[in-house]
Amino acid sequence: MTRKTLQAIILAAGRSSRFKSETSKMLFTICGQEMILYPLKTVQSLSIPLLLVVGYRKESIRRLVDQHGFEAITYIEQNQQLGTGHAVAATMSAWYAHDILVMNGDIPLVTPQLIRELIEQHESSKAVVSFLVAHNSDPSSSVGYGRVVQHDNCISIVENRDFTGDPHVHSFVNAGIYLFQRDFLKQHISSLKTHENSREIYLPDLIEIASKQGLKVTMVTASFDHIRGINTLKELWIAEQIKRAEIIEYWMSQGVRFTHAQSVHIDLDVEIGDGTCIESGVQLFFKTRVGRQCHLGAFSSVKNSVLANHVVLKSHSIVEDATIGESAVLGPFAYVHDNSSIGARSVVGFCVEVSKSSVDQVTKIKHLSYIGSGHIGSKVTIGAGTVFCNYDGKNKNITIVEDGTFIGSNNSLVAPVTIGHDAMTGAGSTITQNVPPYTLAIGRARQDNKEGYVHKIRGSVHIAGAIKTED
Ligand code: UD1
Ligand code: CA
Repeated sequence: MTRKTLQAIILAAGRSSRFKSETSKMLFTICGQEMILYPLKTVQSLSIPLLLVVGYRKESIRRLVDQHGFEAITYIEQNQQLGTGHAVAATMSAWYAHDILVMNGDIPLVTPQLIRELIEQHESSKAVVSFLVAHNSDPSSSVGYGRVVQHDNCISIVENRDFTGDPHVHSFVNAGIYLFQRDFLKQHISSLKTHENSREIYLPDLIEIASKQGLKVTMVTASFDHIRGINTLKELWIAEQIKRAEIIEYWMSQGVRFTHAQSVHIDLDVEIGDGTCIESGVQLFFKTRVGRQCHLGAFSSVKNSVLANHVVLKSHSIVEDATIGESAVLGPFAYVHDNSSIGARSVVGFCVEVSKSSVDQVTKIKHLSYIGSGHIGSKVTIGAGTVFCNYDGKNKNITIVEDGTFIGSNNSLVAPVTIGHDAMTGAGSTITQNVPPYTLAIGRARQDNKEGYVHKIRGSVHIAGAIKTED
């Protein structure tokens, strides 16, 4: 079979009723990627043209899929959700290939390799219908699967709700991935009957039809984990654990050290350089890039950000939509976000927030500060407890702190304001005017010492360094 003779149908129109959610389960993410994108990418990676059946929440699904720019994809609407057989029938006018691959949309862990195997065995056995099955004799965990029942050379799929046999005898379940010869599909899809107890038309009934006619039916075995269907939030959770473990195993093989791998979450699109060490509870989301030889301390979280090589995130630091330069040190409890950038070898220390700001190289902001809408040059020192007062109730205003400047502790820099290069500000200053280069600015009330004044106002006696109140 050549690829030209194959087309695929992915079924994504179902109501997701077992999710008990307002949205389609297709839009729930597994390691940062929406469930429907998994089978779509699998089919796309095999260059098979695709029909996507949508119905429930069709606009949201289309919007998502369109954003990802898949090629050769045609949407087909199933206006009423009358079952998998009905969903496939809705696509009939778009069939042209010799063989048609049908996949449920809720099987995210299936691999391109498995589909390739199904295609190869379908071809080599000259089957009319081939489908994937997996061993699972546990009746409790197989809820939602159709069981493969074989009697006198006849193969049929009995849905879980109708199955009364022994799962140890009929120990294979239907994966929901099939390859049909188009002529057979065309001839029989419209003759499938509605099941009374569910009011649905079942696609797997075609297997019994082919088998009863003595046509060749081929079963291809897969591991159960790869064909897990996601019908409930619990099954989503299990699938995400499997995917997460796969991702972490991969990064281990690339030289990333995990001190407590089971507590770490890494999304599918994240990249990590070798020699990096990741501690407990770290979470890396979306398209985050972590360089080589970084150290990500316990319970840090990085979303959609780039960390260059040798970056250290001390524990409980959060980085979102930010760029962190080589050998910079953040945290503990740092929060760098909103398109901020931190230059190489700079330090953003304990309880420092940096928002919508750029910080150049070798600058130190070590303790308890808020840097908002600021541009800080290189070799700057920002003293403990400094606040960039960037919001006047209406607008966010800019603070510029030029190279080599020293901002004393507990300063308020009231934006818009510029502190020129190599300037200094006194501790506790409120800076409301620009400070020229090489200038010391002190913006605070002068201290006034009134000696002995305490006796006067409190009537107390000063004994041995302590104030004692008279009885
Ligand atoms: C289905 C199979 C079952 C198999 C299992 C594997 C049927 C009748 N049963 O059961 O044998 O073991 O998958 O996971 O096919 N859909 C539509 N339109 C509809 C109904 C469903 O597009 O009218 C889509 C759903 O969005 C979903 C897929 O078809 O992606 C499967 O539907 P679902 O209800 O999840 O079938 P299962 O009960 O899991
Ligand atoms: Ca399902």
